[in-house]
Parts: sequence; structure tokens; C-alpha cells
Amino acid sequence: MKRYPTIKGWGKYLPEKVLTNYDLQKKLDTSDAWIYSRTGIRERRIAADEETASTMGAKAGELALKIAGIEPQELDLIIVASCTADKIFPACASLIQNQLGAKRAGAFDINAACSGFLPALASACQFIQGGTFNNILVVGTEVYSRIIDWQDRNTCILFGDGAGAVVLQGTERSMRLPSFVIGSDGSKADLLYVPGVCDAISNMPADGHYYLRMDGHAVFKFAVQCMSKATLQAIEAAGLSPEDIDLFIPHQANRRIMNAIAKAVGIPQEKVFINVDRYGNTSAASIPIALCEALEEERLAEGSYFALAAFGGGFSWGAGVLQWSLG
Ligand code: UT7
Repeated sequence: MKRYPTIKGWGKYLPEKVLTNYDLQKKLDTSDAWIYSRTGIRERRIAADEETASTMGAKAGELALKIAGIEPQELDLIIVASCTADKIFPACASLIQNQLGAKRAGAFDINAACSGFLPALASACQFIQGGTFNNILVVGTEVYSRIIDWQDRNTCILFGDGAGAVVLQGTERSMRLPSFVIGSDGSKADLLYVPGVCDAISNMPADGHYYLRMDGHAVFKFAVQCMSKATLQAIEAAGLSPEDIDLFIPHQANRRIMNAIAKAVGIPQEKVFINVDRYGNTSAASIPIALCEALEEERLAEGSYFALAAFGGGFSWGAGVLQWSLG
């Protein structure tokens, strides 16, 4: 019996605290006009002291399970995409498993920086299609406010905290199988990274600060190139053409990057979902948060096709095309 991976539930969690561009311009040599014109961002959310990637991810997961009508104990697997997990180990997925009470579920993390939700979703779909598992929670959750240098106007204006989740279930409903493209170029690792506490001693930051470091120009250029190409490949692999895509949900890094990709792929702007204005770049959480909001706004109807595309440190990137059905 063929199993089709179907999104049965979705949820998001955004911390209460809002940090606007006006708040930033009080502390830094920047302005709302500069930030908005270069990025499309107006504000972002900042986690409270006691909040972490696991607590936010668990809240998003709880909502997704509720919509899916699935009890935590029915979950077979939890996959978490994050590069700001609470601890080096245990995995954020195990912490979320415990918070949800998903006693039967296996749990592991995927770190592909900002693009992590794509390999997480692709893995979940493969487990379902292959018949290994049937109920899978996929979470993207990040707390970048803790790895940002709040004195660095080149980076701190871009990021925010939050979590999004989907519950996937295998159904017998006949629909198009998802197509995925996952790519990486590790030779560009130095262009976007956060130093690690386990690196060679000679690579430890001399100032002792484990903050995100980025070449914004290079990231911009490769993000547009890689996401455009991957999206076209995923559309082709699905046996579709760009006109068939009803909604495009790219990684919410920068409105200019998203507009450039949509143009290169041939998707009209009105089919591009954008919420970067309210949340900034939430890394691996950005696609599930955006997907969740698109569903809340009823932007997907039964049978419609949606494309996802992401890019991040590594460099790493991914794209996927899925058909929407509630099964
Ligand atoms: O998930 C992937 C994560 N990373 C990204 O998505 C980042 C991709 N890159 C970008 O989004 C853009 O490169 C940025 C938004 C980071 C920068 O935009 P830009 O249009 O490439 O600006 P720029 O770096 O060329 O800077 C232009 C000017 C510079 O001043 P000078 O040298 O022309 O005098 C910067 O020093 O703007 C200055 N600048 C700022 N001014 C006000 C840089 N940051 C700021 C700031 N406020 N926050």
C-alpha cells in the first residue's frame, strides 16, 4: 500500500517580546528606513530569559498535534531542525519529546543552519513513504538572539527567535509525491558561521565571543543563485512547471532575496508568501512559521502545489514541491 506524506497539523510559537527597528535605532547607528529598504524587516521577536529552542519548539509542536488530532503518544518520530539547540547534547528533539510526553517517539536533530527544515521535512517524508514510520512531528526552532552580537549592525538587525512545526502522517489518499533537492558547498563555510566550543583550539575566537559571523554580500549572491536553481530543479523533479506553483514559501531572510528568486524562477510576486517584516530571519524556523501562517490565511486549497526553498550556512540549501491535501 502506497503511503503519501500528508501535513495533518501545523503550529507556530513566537515569543511575546517585540524588538522593532525603532528600538534598534535607539542603540545602534542604524535606522528603520535603512533596515526596511535593505531587508523588508520591521520587527522581530526575542525569546524571554527562560525560553529556549526546545520550549518554543514544544509549544509549536503541541499546537500542530492539536490540529492533527494526534496524541503525543501516537508519534513515531520527532525531527528537529535547529542550530541553536539548548545544549550540544542531548538533542533538542529529545527535550521536546519529553516536554510533549511523546513516549513512543524516536528523536533526533538536523543541523543544516537556516536551511535545516528542508532536510528535516524530506527525511520525514522518506520515512513515511518507505513505511518505517507513520506519525512524525517536524519542528524548526531557533533562538538566534543568543548567538548575535547586538553591537554589530551588519548582522543583529536581521535575525529573530521563534518556532514552527508540522505533523506529517502517511495516508492512502492519491496525491503527487513530494520532490526535494538538498545541496551543500562546504568550501564556503567561512562566509556564514558561528564558532563552536569544540573546534580546534587555534580556531577559538580570540575575543571569547561565540557570535554569528557573516559576509552579507556573498550570502546574498549565493542565496539567490542556489535557491533559484534548487527551486527550478524541485519543480522539474515533481513533473511540474513554475506556472503550476500556487504558493511559494521561501526562507524568510530578506525580502530582496525572495523577490529576486521569484523573478528568476518565474513565480509572480503575489504567489510569494512573505512575513519577514514581522519576524526577521528565524533561520530553520522561518519556513514552518511561514507555512503555518499561509495555512491560517487559507492560502492553500485542496490539490494546490506549494514550493519551499531555503539557504544557510555551509553553504547549505534545499527546495521542495508538495501538493496540499488534508487527506
Ligand atoms: O539565512 C541567511 C542569513 N543571511 C542573510 O540572509 C544575509 C544576506 N545579505 C543581506 O541581506 C544584505 O547583504 C545585508 C542586509 C546584510 C546588507 O545589505 P546590503 O544592501 O548588501 O548593504 P551593504 O552591506 O552593501 O552596506 C551598505 C552600507 C555600508 O556603508 P558604506 O560602506 O556604503 O558607507 C554599510 O556599512 O550600509 C552600511 N550598513 C548599515 N547602515 C545602517 C550596514 N548595516 C547597516 C545598518 N544600518 N544596520
